This record gives sequence, structure tokens and C-alpha cells, in this order.
Amino acid sequence: MKIKLSINKKKQELDILPGEKLLDVLRSRGYHSVKEGCREGNCGACVVLLDGKPVNSCLVFAAHCQERQITTLEGLGSPGSLHPLQEAFVQSGAIQCGYCTPGMILSSKALLDENPDPSDDEIEIALDGNLCRCTGYVQILEAVKKGAKLLKKVKKTGDKAGGK
Ligand code: FES
Ligand code: FES
Repeated sequence: MKIKLSINKKKQELDILPGEKLLDVLRSRGYHSVKEGCREGNCGACVVLLDGKPVNSCLVFAAHCQERQITTLEGLGSPGSLHPLQEAFVQSGAIQCGYCTPGMILSSKALLDENPDPSDDEIEIALDGNLCRCTGYVQILEAVKKGAKLLKKVKKTGDKAGGK
């Protein structure tokens, strides 16, 4: 079957199997930031944004994504021009093996899009479904707070430069 959807703001028509999961569809099309972990909705490694909200793509049927907007980490920044949250994760040492990082950053982005100034508790709740086996979470919490500051700075500069 064919579905039309937008991935990282690019409209696409994809040929998929009716029972195919979004995780597999994305990875097979080269979106390798979307990680396969538990495949049961428990680890958050496969998180993508579906219409701006974080979802475990291992649990979502691609067929349900007709005319919807998907964002993967590939849609945020690039090696030469990191998204402020990516910059914050690097600066805070919040990445070790990196397997959880795409999902962590996307869940954090969804939080900061709704709430630019979250408390520690709000960050912990937002990242509750994202597991990290390496960092101990302290640096990740710091990274989200730093990312919030960087995003505010970018927004302020953008506003001064013409409201982008
Ligand atoms: S692979 Fe999807 S939640 Fe673990
Ligand atoms: S950095 Fe390794 S799982 Fe999080």
C-alpha cells in the first residue's frame, strides 16, 4: 500500500506493508538516527516526533501516518550546524554510546516546544520513557536545561534579525 506523509518537512510517498511499523519504514529509508531497542515501547530509543509529539515508532503502524508529519533527528541539525539541543548535549557530556541520544533529544525538543522553561521535575517526566544505560541522567538533565537557554538565545537573536 502507498502512504503520503512528510518526513523532516519533505513530502514523500512510500510503498509500505500494511503491518509495517514506522521504525522499520524509517530505518529502511536511511533514517538511521531512529534506533531499534526493545521493540516493546519500553526504552525510547526509537522515539520520533509525530505531528510534533514524541512517539515510540516501534509501536506505531506506518499506515497510521497518512498525511502526518514525522520528525527524526536528521531533521534537526547537521554536523556543521547543530540544533541548540544537540549542541547542549555535546557541551554537557550527555552522550556516551549515543544509542539513546536521538530519542532523548527529540523528547526534549517536544518538551521545550511546549514549555521553554521547564523545571527539573518537568524534564524528568518528559524523559521518563527514554532510558539511558550509560550517563546516569545527571548530564542529560543539565543538557536539557542548557538547551533551553541556548534556544532562548537563538530565538532572541532571530527575533532581532527579523523574527525568524
Ligand atoms: S525500540 Fe521502541 S521503545 Fe524500545
Ligand atoms: S548514552 Fe548510551 S544509552 Fe544513553
